[in-house]
Amino acid sequence: MRLSVIGTGYLGATHAAAMAELGHEVVGVDADPRKVEALSRGEVPFYEPGLAELIASHTASGRLTFSEDIGAVADCDVHFVCVGTPQASASPAADLSQVDAAVEALAKSMRPDTVVVGKSTVPVGTAQRLRAELREATAGQARLVWNPEFLREGFAVEDTLRPDRIVVGVDDDRDAEVVADIYRTQISQGTPFLVTDYATAELVKVAANSFLATKISFINAMSEICDATGADVTTLAHAIGLDERIGRRFLRAGIGFGGGCLPKDIRAFMARADEMGVGESLAFLREVDRLNLQQRDTAVRMAAELLDGSLTGARIAILGVAFKPDSDDVRDSPALSIAAALHLKGAEVVVHDPRAGANAQRAYPTLNYVDSADEALRDADLTMLLTEWQEYRDLDPTRTAEQVARPAVFDGRNVLDAESWRRAGWTYRGVGVR
Ligand code: UGA
Repeated sequence: MRLSVIGTGYLGATHAAAMAELGHEVVGVDADPRKVEALSRGEVPFYEPGLAELIASHTASGRLTFSEDIGAVADCDVHFVCVGTPQASASPAADLSQVDAAVEALAKSMRPDTVVVGKSTVPVGTAQRLRAELREATAGQARLVWNPEFLREGFAVEDTLRPDRIVVGVDDDRDAEVVADIYRTQISQGTPFLVTDYATAELVKVAANSFLATKISFINAMSEICDATGADVTTLAHAIGLDERIGRRFLRAGIGFGGGCLPKDIRAFMARADEMGVGESLAFLREVDRLNLQQRDTAVRMAAELLDGSLTGARIAILGVAFKPDSDDVRDSPALSIAAALHLKGAEVVVHDPRAGANAQRAYPTLNYVDSADEALRDADLTMLLTEWQEYRDLDPTRTAEQVARPAVFDGRNVLDAESWRRAGWTYRGVGVR
């Protein structure tokens, strides 16, 4: 099929490449000429393992093109809306301006009898509203489907090509067949294909992210209790996770969740529930958010404790500022917010990240960024591992002890082997671990 993908950020670029991989002809449309130029050359303006190769292979085959011109959608049968829905600047709600602009522009440029498929994460009720607008702009001909995306950064290609499930919200079952045709390969490989109404499809996405966020805040709450009682949260997570009803995944205690999705999605969900008069039903998400942010304060407090109460003038090596490993994304990154808080409290913060340094520097230019973990560690009074990149997990505690001024480490992701670090002379603190 001939497909257009509106918005070529994280979601759109991956989706466009994956659709070309499935055999479709795809044009990715973006208003930013630099993005379009880079992607057309097969370059990806952010770090995502495997994506540049996939894009390059399909720009070379001619199945994937990029354009600044929305007119490029004119000969496409289906249009995917993949633009961002960030948190609004003055409220916890989602900013839908990019989605609204994309649908409005599409309505003017597409063949009126084609199908628009929304993939962006939107508040429940949005699809119903957009459908009415789209129908009005196309004399009742255009159709709308809502098909939320569940990809994770760092695994975006894999998650898009081999998703756990495909969910489509429709107001006419025939539209589901059009989408089923696009995903034919995945459906034939056994991917569950669920057809539902708009509201359920929109809610599946935010409910999934809310559940994941809740799991993380739950285990972080347990980590506080473990700290207070001398228990060990990693063993606790392992033991409760062996119960299949609970499961071990997303029970890694640490400095909490960040990124461009979980934090803003739970806030937008609460804001929407408030608007609908059912805010009380999501009151627990306020606690989830609060517990998550509290982990950052706990990390700062632990840093001060490890430095005998005084942050002022202490040299702190920050290992990792991306919101998670295998990503250069620092949006709402707990690691970066902890680094910035320590700097504001008078510490000399030296930051290293294998990929996210440049993005972090743009967000917080006042921190000291260096090009290697060795440079960050040199003469450090405290070492803080805040993003669990493999290169930090592989650090040799004996060699590292020789580089720093004082062998004290805060393991914000509970990934170091406490025993071997202590044997090498380190004072080790994790989050809720012994
Ligand atoms: C998340 C969801 O996992 C995806 O399913 C969803 O499609 C995506 O948001 C989205 O809405 O687009 P992502 O933001 O890429 O994906 O990252 P996650 O792997 O979910 O990690 C989120 C944060 O939670 C990271 O900061 C990570 O360090 C933290 N985390 C994760 C923990 O602190 N503990 C855990 O056990 C797991």
